[in-house]
Amino acid sequence: MSGVVLPPGFSLEPLQRTQPRRHFDCGQSEVNDWLHTKALQHQDKRLSATKVLLAGDSAIAGFYTLATGQVDFGDLPSELARKLPRRALPVAILAWLGVSVAHQGEKLGDLLLAQSLRDCYEAGQTFAFVAVILDCVDDRAKSFYQRWDFAELPGNPYRLFLNSQTLAAMMRS
Ligand SMILES: CC(C)(COP(=O)(O)OP(=O)(O)OC[C@H]1O[C@@H](n2cnc3c(N)ncnc32)[C@H](O)[C@@H]1OP(=O)(O)O)[C@@H](O)C(=O)NCCC(=O)NCCS
Repeated sequence: MSGVVLPPGFSLEPLQRTQPRRHFDCGQSEVNDWLHTKALQHQDKRLSATKVLLAGDSAIAGFYTLATGQVDFGDLPSELARKLPRRALPVAILAWLGVSVAHQGEKLGDLLLAQSLRDCYEAGQTFAFVAVILDCVDDRAKSFYQRWDFAELPGNPYRLFLNSQTLAAMMRS
């Protein structure tokens, strides 16, 4: 996967207090609420990092939030787990992603997903993890991610993962 190219007039920046985050609307209240009220606080506390895609007028057209975490060895599918130690294992978490309703259907969701995975991959060169994990808010979100080789974790149909080998192969392709 080659580097992500932003459409003309868009920029990708770390979330900052001065950006109009409370006006963001992706049509999903849980995702909106995260950006409106929690993303900046969590970023200030170094719990997660959020990047926003700004449209030319500096409105937030989309965003994603990444964090680190752990999954238990037993939560992973056996083909992945059998090569790994029996303990809590490090993962990257794609915690949130959204595109404003004004910009949905313009491929910005795919672009943000690609960039978030590139960020994970690059961070993984320094801080290793065994998979990227995400939780889907609903079936629509799940089908969006499943187009990208994310698979279900056993026993948890709304928690998807992409193992690090697949991520690396995606980045090299
Ligand atoms: C899901 C979401 C991020 C997609 O963003 P988008 O910019 O409209 O998506 P894109 O324009 O990049 O679409 C890319 C592809 O995904 C498909 N797609 C878009 N939204 C989809 C959805 N909700 N479910 C399944 N597929 C979807 C498109 O049809 C398109 O497929 P194609 O290339 O075969 O035509 C956006 O609808 C959104 O913010 N939804 C609310 C928040 C949410 O659910 N976030 C995810 C969980 S945190």
